[in-house]
Order: sequence, then C-alpha cells, then structure tokens
Amino acid sequence: MAVEQTPAVDVALFGALGDLAVRKLYAAMYFLEHGGLLADNTRILGLARHEHDAASFTQLVSDALHKHVDKKSLDDTVLERFLARLDYLKLDFSDTKGYTAITKWNKDSGSPLMVYLSVPASIFGVICENLDKSKALNEESRVIVEKPIGYDLETSIETNDAIGKVFAENQIYRIDHYLGKETVQNLLALRFANPLFGNQWSQANISHVEITVAETVGVEGRWGYYDQAGQVRDMLQNHLMQLLCMIAMEPPTSLDADSIRNEKVKVLKALRPIEGERLATDVVRGQYTEGTSGGKQVPGYLDEEGANVNSHTETFVALKAEVANWRWAGVPFYLRTGKRMSERLAQIVIHFRQQPHYIFDPDQRGLATNKLVIRLQPDEGINLQILTKDSGLDKGMRLRPGPLDLDFHKAFPTERIPDAYERLILEVMKGRQYLFVRRDEVEWSWRWVDKLIDGWTSRGVPPQRYPAGSWGPVSSIAMITRDGYSWYEEY
Ligand code: BG6
Repeated sequence: MAVEQTPAVDVALFGALGDLAVRKLYAAMYFLEHGGLLADNTRILGLARHEHDAASFTQLVSDALHKHVDKKSLDDTVLERFLARLDYLKLDFSDTKGYTAITKWNKDSGSPLMVYLSVPASIFGVICENLDKSKALNEESRVIVEKPIGYDLETSIETNDAIGKVFAENQIYRIDHYLGKETVQNLLALRFANPLFGNQWSQANISHVEITVAETVGVEGRWGYYDQAGQVRDMLQNHLMQLLCMIAMEPPTSLDADSIRNEKVKVLKALRPIEGERLATDVVRGQYTEGTSGGKQVPGYLDEEGANVNSHTETFVALKAEVANWRWAGVPFYLRTGKRMSERLAQIVIHFRQQPHYIFDPDQRGLATNKLVIRLQPDEGINLQILTKDSGLDKGMRLRPGPLDLDFHKAFPTERIPDAYERLILEVMKGRQYLFVRRDEVEWSWRWVDKLIDGWTSRGVPPQRYPAGSWGPVSSIAMITRDGYSWYEEY
C-alpha cells in the first residue's frame, strides 16, 4: 500500500518553551520526521515571551530531544533535517501588533497555519482574537487545544465560545491524548472489525466492565493546579470518559469524525447522574497519605510542597457508572483512577456473563466467566481469559483459566508503538478530526461530572485516606464487592 503523503503545514507553537512542548511535542514531531511523515515544506515557529533567536531556540530543542528521545532513535541526519525547520518569534501574546510577524511568516509559504495552543486556557481567547485581527487565518487554518477545557460546564462553554468566535468547529482539534494511544484506537478495530466480539457486546453477554487508570506519580510539583482540579477533573472528566465512550458507543456508520463523535455523545447523554443515596454507595473519593512508591518513601498529598493542609481535594476516585440505554441497561461500569497507586496501569476489563447452565465442579463456579483484558499501559496488549480443562490424569474435568494473549511488543517486535502525540499531530496535519473531542462531548461530560461534584460538595464528606503505594481506600473494594464482583487483579 502506498504511504499517504502528509500535506505541508506551518506550525505556530504557542508556549514553545513550556513543559509539554519540551517534554513531548518536539519529540513527537522528531519521530514524524524520522518516519518520513513530515512534508518537505513543513515549518515550525516557536512562540514565547522569552528572549531567543532561531539559533538559541534550535539549541534548546536539540537539548530537549537529546533528553527525551531514546539514544538509538536519535539519528544525526534526521535531527539536522528536523532542526532546520525551526524558527522562533518572541511574542507577548496580548500584543496584537506582534502577530503580524506570524501572518507574514505564513504568507511566505502559503501552507495552512496550524496553531498549537500549549498555554493555559485563560489565554486561548486573546490569542485567537489577535490571530484573527492580524489576518493570520483562513478557512484552511486549524487550532489545537489541550485539556483542561474549562473547570466545569460554565467555564468550558466560555472557553469553547472564545475559540469558536474565530475558528469553526471543523478547524478545532481538542486533544485528549488518551485517544492517541495505540490500544485506544485498537478498541475501534477490536469492536468493529471482529464479529466475534461485536456480537457479544451488550448486556445480554456482558455482566460488568472495569476501567482502571492508576498512576504511581503524585502531583509532581503541580500542587497549585492539581488542588483546583482533583482527580475527577484531571483524569475522569476527560480520559476515563473517553475510554467509557469507546467501549459503550454504538457502531458508527463510518470512521468519519462525526459518525464516531455522534455515537460518543449519545453515551454521555445516557449516563445516569450519580445523586442522592448513590453518592454514598457508588462513589469513593480518596486522598493519599505518606507511603512507599517505586521503593521510595514519599510524602502524603497534604505534605507535598506548597500544600494547603486543609485541602479536601481527591487524588483518587472510584465509582459505579450506568449507561441507561438498551445495550447497557443493568451493566455497571466501575471506573477507578488515582495518583500514587501501587502500579502504573491503564486497563479495561470486560467481564462476560456466566453460562446459563453449568455442568462442572460447583466449587469452580466462580471461575466460569470469560474476561477480555485490554491493556493500554504499561504493556499494550489484549488478553482473553478463557477456561480450559486442567491437564493431568488426576484432574478429571477440573477447569483452568488461561490466556489467549496478544502482547503487541511480542507479536510485532519490530514495530515501535508511537507516542499518542505523534499520531495526534499527524492527524491534525492531515486535517482528520476523528481522534479529537468535539465541543458537545466536552460539554456533556461536564454536565455529568458537575452533578457528581456538586453532590459530594453538598454532602461535605472529606475524602478517605489511603497510603501512597496502595490501590486506594478499602471502601473502593467494598463498593464493587457489594455487587458480588471484585477488581481484576492479575496485573
Ligand atoms: C494528564 C494529567 O492529562 O494525564 C496528568 O493532567 C496525568 O495528571 C497524565 O499524569 C497521565 O497520562 P499518561 O499518558 O501518562 O497516562
């Protein structure tokens, strides 16, 4: 199959010296260069308030690449070709006049302008307005924005309005980097390319679903930001909601962006609000105390640098979500995410129902379900737990669970799994939106999350403590045990 050519673009990167750019974005674009996926005429203009010229900026990017790209992927020729694309403009983002330099830079090439806003959402509006005033934009221009889109529904509407004044929805690429992860896209292939699973995918055959995104890191010097957000706004409102949508959505009519996004919105609309009594039984909030992580003693959340010791912000949440529609009625979706957990793990487990009629050893009845485990990280792969007969003359018809395992690294050893940002940036260059979040998705997700947060705020119950390096408060185990299930533990 012929390799699809990527069109040339002019990337205007706002926040060019920021943490995301330095840690992730240059490396992602370097790998696109490495894979021959950048068009010859693609250029990158770094924009920030600090004094730099093209040479010192290029040096900074080169240093970042030496730090964040593994040695064996750093190739001098590729590096040189990539660095030659860079330029820098010192810009005060509120200074309208300064933007004419961007207009001029882009006019020289005639390529579409790809604006990357790697800056706080509070200044999205002013940047968009200034780009517009200085006539830098046309219908081919596009803009990339990072989460968080707002702090709640109201502020997300404000942020979306500010961008929407200047860019049409088909020019806006809202990143949720989980959608760029290889295994998340594989969910589309798994569900919609394999009748084996497609035909089983409903309440008729699935008893419950688990989605876990556990991190070993704490707040990593971001206490100020994090304490305003908490794990629900930082991870659940976006990443876990997107995973839930990918699992629960109806088959889209095509891979076209709106076909997929229409189906995701239907899932978000069908989420039953967690309110009333359910706030006490179906949600567990936690906050980590000191403990051991990665073999090291680490401080508790309230002992982190810059902490307010009275904070009730959650660093962990587990809840039972329900998608109230024909396909999923009665199937609980257990979601759990936390910082400073025992392991770094992102995994979805689909639990299939038991056989309607069971003929084996009654003691083994609990074993008798199939599970589909979809690992997003650390080791991307798909594993189907099936039951076989235990071998050996003395075993009779004893059952034994075993995996049908697809570990991507082992099955396709020569293929490097690209970082989410590589794929996402490439898709923007190609003008394809299916891996980006549409405005109404963000807003429907906030509607559900706002109700949840309002509910627990009015109950005034502080988060439960859990030691760093554990799997969260014990009541998150009780929550699922009450329903007769347990968190899948074969990590
Ligand atoms: C970000 C959150 O969106 O995702 C961080 O703001 C979190 O707090 C990160 O650590 C996790 O991403 P990943 O890809 O490492 O799972």
